[in-house]
Formats: sequence, structure tokens, C-alpha cells
Amino acid sequence: MLRCFLLDFIRYLLILKFMSQELSSTRQSRDSSRKAPPTIIVIFGASGDLTARKLLPGLYNLGFDDLLSDDFHLIGYGRSEMSDEAFRQSMGDAIGKHSRRPLNEEIWGQMSSNLHYHAGPYDAPDSFDRLSQRISAIESSIGTETQCLFYVSTPPSVFKPILENLGDSGLARRHRHTPASSKVVIEKPFGRDLSSAQELNAIINRRFDESQVYRIDHYLGKETVQSLLVQRFANSIFEPIWNRRYVSCVQVTVAETIGVGSRGGYYDRSGALRDMVQNHVMQLLALTAMEPPSSLDPEAIRDEKVKALRAIRPLDLDGDDSDVVRALYKEGLVGGEKAIGYLQEEGIPEDSSTETYTAIRLYLDNWRWKGVPFYLRSGKCMSRKASEITVQFSRPPAILFGEGNRFDISPNSLVIRIQPNEGVTLTLNSKKPGLATKLQPVELSFGYDTTFGSDTPEAYERLILDAMNGDGTLFIRGDETETSWSLLTPVLEHWAGSGTKGLGTYAAGTWGPLDADKLLIRNGHEWQVSGT
Ligand code: BG6
Repeated sequence: MLRCFLLDFIRYLLILKFMSQELSSTRQSRDSSRKAPPTIIVIFGASGDLTARKLLPGLYNLGFDDLLSDDFHLIGYGRSEMSDEAFRQSMGDAIGKHSRRPLNEEIWGQMSSNLHYHAGPYDAPDSFDRLSQRISAIESSIGTETQCLFYVSTPPSVFKPILENLGDSGLARRHRHTPASSKVVIEKPFGRDLSSAQELNAIINRRFDESQVYRIDHYLGKETVQSLLVQRFANSIFEPIWNRRYVSCVQVTVAETIGVGSRGGYYDRSGALRDMVQNHVMQLLALTAMEPPSSLDPEAIRDEKVKALRAIRPLDLDGDDSDVVRALYKEGLVGGEKAIGYLQEEGIPEDSSTETYTAIRLYLDNWRWKGVPFYLRSGKCMSRKASEITVQFSRPPAILFGEGNRFDISPNSLVIRIQPNEGVTLTLNSKKPGLATKLQPVELSFGYDTTFGSDTPEAYERLILDAMNGDGTLFIRGDETETSWSLLTPVLEHWAGSGTKGLGTYAAGTWGPLDADKLLIRNGHEWQVSGT
């Protein structure tokens, strides 16, 4: 059995390698078939950090790969006054600093002449009327009806007036017969709890059809996250064992080494549960746990994700064996460098009870997963940056290989490394060479870099291109976000009512508080992270 499995896995690695060669030889033609139609993108929050670090570099790289139309235009919308020229200059600088490719003067020269800047408040209808006139003028210069993509990348406090003004000014439905010619992309955080997410969905749904709405979660744009679907459903060796009969637990770790840095003001009102778990971690969980979709149609995939999320049993929040652990970091050493504690960070009140780490144990009450614990954790200032999913399989019956080895047989595990060192590792038991029969876990590993090279598009490139092309597969539907909030809002309410009671601490540069280990011990499990 082991031998067959091993052979299957090796065959799988060879097929991946072959596919990578095929892919790279056809990459040019396949990518160009995805070229975006003529589009006018309006970015609200044009002078913000995300625009400079991710959106413009992403768009530039799409231009570099010839995936933008010649009739691509961008209007940066911000509150401060700025000329078109100054905006072009600052975006050029941002690209120079943050793009994965160096700035090519010729390509940027062509692109930047189509960049414009519009100054105005987010709650002033007349500013949106002027925006509308500006869009019409650009459209006349293009000479045809053009789709508009409104990218809301502002603090959440102004989501509402922007969405309302897009509706009231008619921009949400510019061409009456083709409503999809207007699209709206909404950045996270999508609400702070269930009721605010419902309210936001209601505001959106009054102005836009759901098919026009793209709620972004940049984790879904990561190459390795997309590949999760391929690993699960384009290989026949995993699906038969991807269930309660063979899996003893599933772990999702999203650990960061950075602290909150200059984002203290935002972070202290958010915390790890809102900032990372409600969106990124829950998406990884949904993709791991969902049933095979009937097709690759966006709705088919999103239906299955929602079904998986709905199967999660409400969390037990009381008592010593609560399903949830929270903690904040104290000073420590991260990668050998001194790190200050959370309460000493800029903008953090010294009596803050915001969690910078959370771990959750949960169960899906459905046919596939009943009784299998899923452990989720995410934290800042941790030992190492690691986003990965571990599927740990049941131990084999220990009747062979001698008494002494009985408890030494490690469970097999499949680790999907989202980042860094993107790849997949399967751990197997092997015989250690020698005259005695001693077992040792060994790894079969596949790395994206070594197989495919490292020239991978960034998450935002993929997501912006998909939105322009009207493909919502990698975006979050309204009911997905509400389902995730409905599981986690009771946790937030429980914490809000408990002050600092139950709030643990961990030294910066470690793997989190001891209580998080206890979550697993009851089931005989322990946290796994590759390379440790
Ligand atoms: C963002 C969070 O959504 O994701 C940040 O707001 C976090 O706090 C970031 O640092 C992590 O993203 P990545 O791609 O570096 O894992």
C-alpha cells in the first residue's frame, strides 16, 4: 500500500513537472488570451499605502505583460489636491520602489499618459458628478462605451458614502443595458462584525447587482492558494483519503514575523481575528474543506465554500476548554533582532486588550469531516513567517515493526506551503538503513521555485485582471463573508465582555502562548509547521 502510494506520489510530481514545461512554453499565448478589455479604473484612496505598494505595481506588471488594453485609463481619486503630473510622478516612484520588475521607461511612458487625478471629498455628490463628466470625456476620446472599475481602497469609514454616491450619480449603472459595464472592487475589512457586514452588503446590493461586486481577499490571488484547488481536484490520489476516515486533523497556520509597525491605529481596532482569520484563514479553511464543485464556474465554487463554512459548529467559548485562545506579544527577539511588545508600539493604548494572536479549534458537522478537528492560528511577531495548511493523516495500526517502534510511527502529513518557500511536502515513514528495522519520517517535496521558476505574478495582478475580465471566482460573495462573520462575531462579543480576562501573552519571536498548544493536546495533536 505504502509502495503504491509512494509511486503514485512520484508520478504526481513528474506530471507537475511536465505540466510546468508545457505551461511555460504556452504561457505567452495563454496569457494574451486573458488581455483585459478597454477599462477606466477609478481608485478611491489613490494616495494610500495600498495604491502605492500593490495596486499601481500590479497594474504596471499587467501593462508589462501586455495584458492591459491600449484604451486603459486610470483615475486616482483622493482628498488632497494634486495635479495629474504630480500623481504620475508619485506613481512612477511607487512602481520603482515596489514593483517585482524594474520600471521600464518606455512601457511606463505609454501607461502614465493615461493616468489622471481627481481631487474631492468622498461624501460630496458634486464631486462624483464631476468624476462622471471626466469619465465621459475619456470615453469619448476612446470612441466607444467603456467599462468602469471602481476600486474602493479607502479606510472603511468612507465605504458607505462612496458606494452611495456611486449609486446616486448613476456611475454604478452607466450603460443601462449592460450593468456589468460598471464594477466595484471592495477592499477589506468588509465590516467589523456580522451586523456591519450585513449593513454593507445591503448598501452595495441596493446600488449594484451581485455580479458587479468584487470583494477582495488578496490570499485568493496567491498562486499557491489557487493551486490548492488543482492539487485537490486534478489528482485522484488525494480525494479518496481527504475525509474523516483517513485524516486525523487539519491545521492552518498564518504566522508573520512583523509587528503592527505604523499601523497601530488601524490594528488596535481590529486584532488578529478581524484582520487575518475572518478573511484569509477562513478562506484557506473553506478551500481545504469544501466538496468538489460541479464546475469551475465562480458560483459553483463559491456555493461549495459557503456550504463548508455553514457546516462549522458554533464555537465553545466558556470554561477551561474553550475552543478559542487569544494573546498579545510582549517584547522578545524576532530573527535575532530585539522587538518591542505590542503595548509599547506607536498608537497602542497601554491598557489595550487587542489580540495579536489567536488560535481556534473547530469542527465541521458534515459527512466528510464530522469529528475531525481543524486548528487555525494566526499571529504577528511570531517565530517565522509561514502560511501553510497541514493535513495530518491517521496513524497506521502499530502492529508491525516491533514493540519499541509502536509509538514512534509518525502520522503521514501533507503540508501545502502557501508562503514562503511555496510548495508541497508529503511526509512518509521510511526504514532507516541498517540491520535493525528502525523507522524515520522522510519527505517528498515539490517547490514552486525549483519547478516553475520564481517569476510569479503577485496576488493583486491576478485579482485586478480577473475583475477587469469579469471573473469573480477568486472574490468573496456576500453570503460567504456573512457566514464567516456569523461564526466569529460571538467570539468578538465574548472578548469584548471579558476585558483582559483570558488574554494571554507570548514573547515576540515565539510560536505563541502555551494555551494554544493545549487546544490540541486533548486530541493528542500538536502544532506542525514545516521545517521544525
Ligand atoms: C493583510 C493584513 O490583509 O494581510 C496585514 O491586514 C497582514 O496585517 C497582511 O500583514 C499579510 O499579507 P501577506 O500577503 O504578507 O501574508
